[in-house]
Amino acid sequence: MAIRKVGVLGCGLMGSGIAEVAAKAGMATVVREVNQALLDKGMAKIQGSLAKAVEKGKLTADERDATMARLSGTTGFEGLADCDLVVEAIVENLDEKKATYSALAQVAKPQAIFASNTSSLTVTQLAMASGRPERFVGLHFFNPVPVMKLVEVVKTLLTDETVLAEVNDFCRAIGKTPVACKDNSGFIVNRLLVPYILDAIRALEEGVGTVADIDEAMKLGCGYPMGPFTLLDFVGLDTTYYIANIMFEEYREKRFAPPPLLKQMVQAGRFGRKSGRGFYEYK
Ligand code: 3HC
Repeated sequence: MAIRKVGVLGCGLMGSGIAEVAAKAGMATVVREVNQALLDKGMAKIQGSLAKAVEKGKLTADERDATMARLSGTTGFEGLADCDLVVEAIVENLDEKKATYSALAQVAKPQAIFASNTSSLTVTQLAMASGRPERFVGLHFFNPVPVMKLVEVVKTLLTDETVLAEVNDFCRAIGKTPVACKDNSGFIVNRLLVPYILDAIRALEEGVGTVADIDEAMKLGCGYPMGPFTLLDFVGLDTTYYIANIMFEEYREKRFAPPPLLKQMVQAGRFGRKSGRGFYEYK
């Protein structure tokens, strides 16, 4: 079964990016948000991103219009009934994800593949909640989705091999490179990235360097596109805090434990770019 119609649950930072790349690659795409205001905000984000691509000469105006014509939004689940693949990219909360899969399972066709963009929950527990564990995978995208080439493809003990082949083909069809991962919390990238980011905060707490100096050192010393604090602001301190807590819960190792400063900044509403202030201020 070739994947022709894609559903995306959630039109936030990740969901909007996934919907954009699927529609851009020629697939009919329907994106679902919990209410009209969030849906409008997410669709505007996609329109803005496509407009920027046209401005930069990466996309023609006709391609932009064709992409938008393939894209539709909904606040219900009925519109996802004939999707071949549904990628869930909602909040990183197990109960919310379980409730969403349960509602989706009521309408989705039996052969549809369900995927989660979870970055730190184990996929097996989500697969079991979906009622179709053999047709369930993890598809972990990276921010900004239109730019980052990687998708971590996570199989569980129960994933059907034909499903894996189909989602690998899907990743390639949308211009991404799939990398196979075992179902370990954090998969490959966050298993290595999260301790690095948390350690940068610990270095700051210990006075090793300032925010700007630690960022500059990692950029120039290691050739990273962003220093750890710019990246934290970019990914979101709240998101990083959730991920770190889930990984700490899973591994019980200090390297995954969120440092006090991260917790306090989240409590203070300093989430990074999205809230206008994190380790840096954004006008
Ligand atoms: N949408 C589409 N294109 C975008 C974009 C966006 N949101 N942001 C940047 N771009 C494009 C630009 O148009 C530009 O394209 P061009 O070279 O063809 O003109 C290119 O990306 C480079 O952008 P800029 O020149 O504006 O800025 P930078 O050179 O600083 O690149 C960046 C921006 C690509 C975001 C780069 O800084 C980067 O790679 N940062 C690291 C990102 C990263 O590590 N992401 C992973 C986060 S972890 C994660 O997502 C997992 C989760 O579970 C936490």
